[in-house]
Amino acid sequence: MNDCRYLTFALGKGRLARKTLELFEQIGITCEEMKDKDSRKLIFVNEELKLRFFLAKGPDVPTYVEYGAADIGVVGRDTILEENRNVYEVLDLGFGKCRMCVCGPREARDLLLHHERIRVASKYPHIAREYFYNKKHQTVDIIKLNGSVELGPLVKLSDVIVDIVETGGTLRENGLEVLEEICPLSARMIVNPVSMQMEKERIKDLIYRLRSQIV
Ligand code: PRP
Repeated sequence: MNDCRYLTFALGKGRLARKTLELFEQIGITCEEMKDKDSRKLIFVNEELKLRFFLAKGPDVPTYVEYGAADIGVVGRDTILEENRNVYEVLDLGFGKCRMCVCGPREARDLLLHHERIRVASKYPHIAREYFYNKKHQTVDIIKLNGSVELGPLVKLSDVIVDIVETGGTLRENGLEVLEEICPLSARMIVNPVSMQMEKERIKDLIYRLRSQIV
């Protein structure tokens, strides 16, 4: 292992990173440095395995991977679709399962059926555009929000929203419902295309070992 270069991982901060590290531990990849919650370090190294890890904001993970600043990234499929970067998606890690949906009040169902020019609020304007323009061939106005998107229809900013639904609790508590399902989501591993060529054996071995742990 001494003569190989470091393989660098960018992990989406928070629950995703914690779950990823749990999965890595199952195949013998640990990073003790990262477990120290008081540490202000940004990059963590496993010298023995020649691995480096850093935590990044989810939407930045595909950027680091596209430019080769990280060889490998772990991030939600929602972010991969929204960022639309030049990376290979190589593995579904099986956690963080949820759905990207069009949601709104029940009355908005008709607006979708009749292809009306409606307003769509979303943290995911690219996914919303792809879905309405390219899949449904419906012209809509897309309004970018940064969170609490369910507010959109409640305060009449928009007719519907495009957002993540996990348990459905947020929708229920606000009198909204799933109107159309866009796609299933979960945590995915992505790889820089050049790294995939240069470090083929190590990355293929990693994917193979991870796959054996995923239920
Ligand atoms: C996400 C998503 C929904 C909610 C869905 O929001 O945008 O609002 O979770 O989960 P549920 O179906 O289990 O209720 P998040 O908590 O990430 O915060 P945000 O609204 O600020 O984006």
